[in-house]
Amino acid sequence: MILDTFVDAAQLELRPIPVYPATPDSLDALLGEAPESRAWAAAHGFEAKPAQCLVLPGPAGGVERVLFGVPSDPTLWDWAALVGALPVSSPPAVFQLQQLDSRQADRCCLGWALACYRFTRYKTPTSDLPRYAWPEGANRESVTRQAEAIALARDLVNTPAEDMGPEELAGTIEGVAGRHGAHYTCIEGDDLLQQNYPCVHAVGRAADRAPRLADLTWGDPDAPKITLVGKGVVFDSGGLDLKPSAGMKLMKKDMGGSASALALAHAVMAAGLSVRLRLLVPCVENAVSGNAFRPLDVLDSRKGKTVEVGNTDAEGRLVLCDALAEADGEDPDLILDFATLTGAARVALGTELPALFCNDDAWADDYLGAGLAVTDPLWRLPLHRPYRRFIKSPVADLNNISSTPMGGAITAALFLQEFVSDGQAWAHVDTMGWIDSAQPGRPVGGEAFGVRAALAMLEQRYGG
Ligand code: BES
Ligand code: MN
Ligand code: ZN
Repeated sequence: MILDTFVDAAQLELRPIPVYPATPDSLDALLGEAPESRAWAAAHGFEAKPAQCLVLPGPAGGVERVLFGVPSDPTLWDWAALVGALPVSSPPAVFQLQQLDSRQADRCCLGWALACYRFTRYKTPTSDLPRYAWPEGANRESVTRQAEAIALARDLVNTPAEDMGPEELAGTIEGVAGRHGAHYTCIEGDDLLQQNYPCVHAVGRAADRAPRLADLTWGDPDAPKITLVGKGVVFDSGGLDLKPSAGMKLMKKDMGGSASALALAHAVMAAGLSVRLRLLVPCVENAVSGNAFRPLDVLDSRKGKTVEVGNTDAEGRLVLCDALAEADGEDPDLILDFATLTGAARVALGTELPALFCNDDAWADDYLGAGLAVTDPLWRLPLHRPYRRFIKSPVADLNNISSTPMGGAITAALFLQEFVSDGQAWAHVDTMGWIDSAQPGRPVGGEAFGVRAALAMLEQRYGG
């Protein structure tokens, strides 16, 4: 598990090796009077620049202490850089950060934990990781639930579609429900038609692995309701509007929205927030087969609006629209959905900045503010009403694609908004769900953008 590298200092036989955060201003005092330390630092060019690491030897030749360069208000990612910088002995030594206030202790631990993440399902790691003693003042529960949440999402996204089908995805949700004593139900296969989830069924029906809607509820029924929705397309071939190879390659990550929503659900339940939580995840594979839904088919939807299929590759909004209609029926404080919905959002904001669409300015401001506070930023894009005309259809209430190639993230969000009542607070996160350029703490692979921000926002409103 992700926190395996963490130990309790009180249970150690040996004293952990102290690591001191250093800035150019504090360096002098940290080096002390000894000329040897100064010479050693100078010989290594150590100036306490961010991410610089200096190992100071003791008289017997071992590691006595470590200085680690940080900026003045380090983020978790600044701390994450320590993991790759520390020496790893055999067996690995235990390090402990010193002189941290509790806020920095939490950030530091979370940064390390996320930097220690590795996807080990198919391959045993060939190198050891350094080990950490919890620094004083860290909120271990908070760090643990956040690290577990992100690692869970990363594992789910990284798992190939062969081993992460609709059943496995739903099964993982059921497992998380069980862990927290949440109620879990799942509507499978043709039952989706009986129970009026026609769009979820239409998108998923061509796959050998039956589509389903996973539904988790947790908490006091009388508490304010928060409903999370996640796009759980376990593989997006594009359907009959087949994607070209390059566009299809990464599409095991098309359940990244559901991984994010589940990660957030886990953290909310672990934190015991005063909410009645619901998580709805349509789990489907967008496949090609003789019974696949087709371009220009007209689908019924849960809300009753008919949808013309302009393109079978715009499947995410179809599975989400039925789930959003169901969420909307309960009148929650907030509906929050996560989805790897459009390439257009990535063109607009790049891979690492999720797009936030929100019909409620107070929630949007809280979410953006929390994102800045915890270094999990999002960028708001507008639900620009005039573009509504681009998703009209001559034969149905809506078309699932826009009549213009421009502004595709906005028109997709406007499509979703059609399934949310006026006055119902709703936020939609269009995310990449994947990191394709590694940085400290963020290896290439699945990632749950916007989840720590959402957790911070919810903790602020509902107690943490
Ligand atoms: N899952 C994709 C969107 C996607 C692609 C997200 C690449 C991130 C990276 C989605 O189902 C899709 O195929 N969207 C199409 C919509 C189009 C057909 C209107 C897109 O964005 O090209
Ligand atoms: Mn698609
Ligand atoms: Zn998709």
